[in-house]
Amino acid sequence: MRTELITVLDMDSREEALRAVELCATCQFFKIGSQLFTRCGPEIVREILDMGRKVFLDLKFHDIPNTVAKAAKGAADMGASLFTVHAIGGRRMIEAARVAVEGTETKILAVTILTSLSDEMLRLELGLPETTSEAVVRLAKQAVESGAHGLVSSPHEIVLVREAVGLKPLIVTPGIRPAWSTGKDDQVRITTPRQAAEAGANYIVVGRPIFKHENPAEAVRLIQEELV
Ligand code: C5P
Repeated sequence: MRTELITVLDMDSREEALRAVELCATCQFFKIGSQLFTRCGPEIVREILDMGRKVFLDLKFHDIPNTVAKAAKGAADMGASLFTVHAIGGRRMIEAARVAVEGTETKILAVTILTSLSDEMLRLELGLPETTSEAVVRLAKQAVESGAHGLVSSPHEIVLVREAVGLKPLIVTPGIRPAWSTGKDDQVRITTPRQAAEAGANYIVVGRPIFKHENPAEAVRLIQEELV
């Protein structure tokens, strides 16, 4: 299995995003999240697809099954290759999303527990009795059983998640910092592209290390080189 790079377009404008896609000439796959989507809408997805690239739409749907199914169909109709839902939305929500994308090329990724949440927050704020790792494993299994094609996983949970769901589901991993990158930003538990690939990630998701580099095209090349 070859691990593929997805470059993050966390920008505020169409111009910045399209310039970034042009700069990252050797990258085929780009992530559009709430930041860019709330500024530019589906049009930016269309423009990036028209540039011959693939799109991961990271809007983390979490709503009643009917609404998520409609949004899933919207993502598929837009031509997104991947999009996210929150696993905590439950089985029926993911089953409905799966029915909605059946017959298309679009795949569903489930987000388990946000890495911004600690064990203590899970217990005190969400009322869950488990540790984050226990909750990640339980929700990952449930999401895949309900029809998710894959999971978003922190780098340090890739092995745990692989053990829980087996080899077939896709694992997509943010929190990547190449050894040459200058800082961790707000990422706490990080790994290099190579470590994430060796742990079994199908895709790594990288943003700031690429765009903080003086030559983003070179940063992309260096990351892709680690993945070969
Ligand atoms: O800039 P950086 O490489 O940290 O970008 C990582 C991307 O992955 C961001 O778009 C961020 O929202 C997303 N993400 C993350 N950590 C998670 C889940 C998603 O950083 N646990």
